[in-house]
Amino acid sequence: MDAIEIVTSLTTPAGRADPYPLYAELLQMGEAVELGPCDVLIVGYEAISAVLRDPGFAVSDRAKPDKDFPGWQANPVLVQAVDWILNMNAPRHARIRSLIARAFTARRVAGLEPAIAAMADELLDAIADRGADGSAVEFMHDFAYLLPVTVICELIGIPEPDRERFRPIARDLAGVFELTDLSALPAINAAAVELLEYFTDLAARRRAEPRDDLLSDLLAVSDAADGRLTDFELLHNLTLLLVAGFETTTNLLGNGLAIVMQDPLAGEGLRDGSVPPSAFVEEVLRFDSPVQLTSRVGYDTSVGDVRLSDQTNVIVLLGAGNRDPRRFADPASFDPLRPDAGPLSFGGGAHFCIGAALARLEGAVAFPRLVSRFPKISAAGEPTRRNTILLRGFDTLPVTIA
Ligand code: HEM
Repeated sequence: MDAIEIVTSLTTPAGRADPYPLYAELLQMGEAVELGPCDVLIVGYEAISAVLRDPGFAVSDRAKPDKDFPGWQANPVLVQAVDWILNMNAPRHARIRSLIARAFTARRVAGLEPAIAAMADELLDAIADRGADGSAVEFMHDFAYLLPVTVICELIGIPEPDRERFRPIARDLAGVFELTDLSALPAINAAAVELLEYFTDLAARRRAEPRDDLLSDLLAVSDAADGRLTDFELLHNLTLLLVAGFETTTNLLGNGLAIVMQDPLAGEGLRDGSVPPSAFVEEVLRFDSPVQLTSRVGYDTSVGDVRLSDQTNVIVLLGAGNRDPRRFADPASFDPLRPDAGPLSFGGGAHFCIGAALARLEGAVAFPRLVSRFPKISAAGEPTRRNTILLRGFDTLPVTIA
């Protein structure tokens, strides 16, 4: 197959189910693969690391919607998305990211560990009740989805009674990451409007009465005398934290459990303590990354043998780099004790995932509990995959525990 045929195959149901043989073919073609005069795929581990760290590669920002999508301003979700740090370049990106990082500290993340453990145990109790008689339980909904969204709500400071209402809205909004069909926009816009109203109201309450949560800390940063974070920048990036933080982590949990169910030895190491939970999480991230790709705009340079320009759309295939045989020994085997760990799944450089420590913590808390509590956990019928390419995960993953 040539590169175009491989990319076309990646979008078919079979390619989505298992893209890895197709990635292996792309990796044989070099570090970068030209698809056309303005489209390049970056597939090799070293090239991906270099591109993500090279400030010459910009993320596509406001200038692009003006060109590709006149009238985009009529869509509330896109108005919010141009304020997301994910879609911003220097110097604005550095300013806003550092202000958010000041509130989203390692201390705040580490402090969530007891709450995450309690939430995970509560969800596992409910699964134990439902599955005790051998009935099938839906892991994606009953655990993989509920844990991260509840953790994000806890982190931001969304009161418990509001969380139930919040979950479907967050899920609708996450559709913006895979916007291939404009007919999805009305539902995504409605979610964006509802979330913004909710956060505006919650921010007013936290301003009046600050608490020990991320929102109160962000408000303190934005209200500081230098006024460097505007209200909209703050509120819009809150919606980003919500959408970037939960479906990705949901997929980490689902993809990890699927690995354990296919290869019981993978779970055994976690149960008997020979595999550290953090090493298990790193290998799940590498082996089946919840985020498979990101994109950049090129500039006048070369990657591998390919020439680029400022007109080049650059697709960075993180999922392929994670299976690069030039970087990882035996890349298609799941080996949490591999000495050459180092997945690309959280990106790299200026846009490196701001929630990486939180996602890692959630995985490290959840996986050992899951496999120790349910040593017999196994698949109950065929799982279904999400119909997505950028995010990789399951829609349903039915299991039995008895
Ligand atoms: C396993 C879970 C996760 C994965 C695989 C993941 C992956 C990524 C990747 C690949 C990027 C960089 C995108 C790029 O360079 O274009 C990113 C950025 C980001 N992530 Fe995550 N993420 C995860 C969890 C989270 C969580 C839990 C949060 C928040 C609570 C979060 C918030 C963000 C934000 C705000 C950015 C943008 C950073 C910037 O542009 O400066 N992510 N994530």
